[in-house]
Amino acid sequence: MTDERKKITIPHINEMKRRGEKISFLTAYDYPTALLEDRAGIEMILVGDSAAMCLLGHETTLTITMDEMITLSRAVTRAARYAFVIGDMPYMSYQPSDETAVKNAGRFMAEAGVDAVKLEGGRRMASRIEAITDAGIPVMGHVGLTPQAYTQQGGLRSQGKDADSALRLIRDAEAVEKAGAFALLIEAVPAEVAELIKERVSIPVLSIGAGGACDGQLLIVHDILGLFEAFTPRFVRRYANLSEIMSEAFKSYREEVRSGAFPGREHQYPISDEELGALRTSLEWSKKAASRAKTRTA
Ligand code: KIV
Repeated sequence: MTDERKKITIPHINEMKRRGEKISFLTAYDYPTALLEDRAGIEMILVGDSAAMCLLGHETTLTITMDEMITLSRAVTRAARYAFVIGDMPYMSYQPSDETAVKNAGRFMAEAGVDAVKLEGGRRMASRIEAITDAGIPVMGHVGLTPQAYTQQGGLRSQGKDADSALRLIRDAEAVEKAGAFALLIEAVPAEVAELIKERVSIPVLSIGAGGACDGQLLIVHDILGLFEAFTPRFVRRYANLSEIMSEAFKSYREEVRSGAFPGREHQYPISDEELGALRTSLEWSKKAASRAKTRTA
């Protein structure tokens, strides 16, 4: 089957915003998942550092490395013929300096072939966004709940719920746009505040837990498929329960292996009666020859 669809680009994303067409955005960390998302027409894929928790079993997102993110991103870009792929810059891959940020954003582009990178933070990260954009690499900003700063934010908590913090968020969003970001992601913020942000910036605004007024929606694929059981954020809707389906499959497999019901004849490779007969004869001959040799040496 040939894929006639054109790869999604930034002008395409801008055009969707202009037309009021909502953008669907999901995370993916591996080839088969990205392939299915791409086929389903998901326009944007984030190779999120949430892979640390959802895929690799870490406690937080802080411990995934640049090398791990590159490996996962390469798998996703191999699959995505249509979707716009964004590599999520892991903790400390951009915070230390503009130079570090450009170097690591460049690795995402050159080694993994992503279309853009994402980094967390508002005004404090404006110079990083500017430096990466100046290097010719598109950047998505990320404000609101920023999991890499969860200790500073008092845990994985919703943000911008009072006038002062909401105003700070709006200023952060404006700074992200001014620094040159092509899009902005808002996480876990009241819908009304996200709407005020959307009115104040001209770039596409994506929401994860920031209400329906934004230009598109992001969710974590393991959350929508029911594959992440540690906790479920308020903003998640589960579209499938794969952990139940997978558990049932694993149990059935184990039972069939124990009972001998698996493998069936259809899972075995055939050998003709003639070849099997010849094999048995030659085994018989070598057994006799070995026993004759043993008698001679005794
Ligand atoms: O890593 C990720 O999946 C993210 C989302 C939670 C926004 O950054």
